[in-house]
Amino acid sequence: MRRKVRVSAPGKIILSGEHAVVYGFPAILAAVDRRLLLSIEKSNRLQVVPAKATDIVKRALGVVGKKFKEEDLEKLKVSLNSQIPIGCGMGSSAAFAVGITAGIFELLDQPKNLAIINECAYEIEKKQHGNPSGGDNTIVTYGGFLWYRKEGEGFKIFEKIKPKSAPTLWLINSGKPQENTGEMVAKVKDFYQQNPARVRSLFFESEKLTRAFLELLQGEKSYSLIDLLKENEAILDSLGVVSPKARRIIQKIEQLGGGAKVSGAGGIKNGSGIILAYHKDADLLPNFAKRSSLEYFKATLGEKGVTEEK
Ligand code: PMV
Repeated sequence: MRRKVRVSAPGKIILSGEHAVVYGFPAILAAVDRRLLLSIEKSNRLQVVPAKATDIVKRALGVVGKKFKEEDLEKLKVSLNSQIPIGCGMGSSAAFAVGITAGIFELLDQPKNLAIINECAYEIEKKQHGNPSGGDNTIVTYGGFLWYRKEGEGFKIFEKIKPKSAPTLWLINSGKPQENTGEMVAKVKDFYQQNPARVRSLFFESEKLTRAFLELLQGEKSYSLIDLLKENEAILDSLGVVSPKARRIIQKIEQLGGGAKVSGAGGIKNGSGIILAYHKDADLLPNFAKRSSLEYFKATLGEKGVTEEK
């Protein structure tokens, strides 16, 4: 066992296909330049910094530990330092699941096998969220841009997309959702059970838009980014995952001539987490966010996946 390792894992956004991806429809995800840094070192007991993360660290170590039957995994100091807003749809929990798995693999001097790390992180995510698609942990593991599709529990298809030009998007925080991802996925499931035909047609519409997004990334100009963001948002709103607060912000951006969508699970009672926004005029959205006292930042998309830090 090594004495100490440091790893970092990126946050993520979903350009198109959230929620539909849980039901086997495709999604496009991208890693972003906000990372979680984890340091893991040998200790005489389990210490977690910050202490409030102790339970999730214990749960994750339980899952990873099963792979190795290492009792010493109970005697570690795990420190977390994150630039990813927590619980806002930017993959903070996936970054943690992938980061801690990769860190333990490094600590135990295991070969860096991304497929196994990803699978193990997926098990951690299931403990956290119930029925995730596995898209979040996959983009955080591999980085870049991914086309992702879960055909079944043990059969997930993904492929890296090499965009001709990556869109410059602003990320605007509409407020931390009161609901967690598992609850939002459960809400969509209820809606699906009550209105199967309606929700299925929204998922097919989502797939059409995800394909259009792929074409846009590959340099075909048949669709405008603004229209794709708007149409994507309309589907998420019809699925019932957009809060009035987030809807107001998005409508304002549309009135100003831009396009925006919720990214991730969304939220209803308070905010819906991070909004992806685009406007041709580069200064307009940051000025709008400033005026509206909303947290915002520019996203560089397509960042590298989980990495050991020296
Ligand atoms: O909000 P996040 O980062 O947990 O993203 C969830 C994305 C969903 O499609 C709603 C769920 C999933 O497992 O893919």
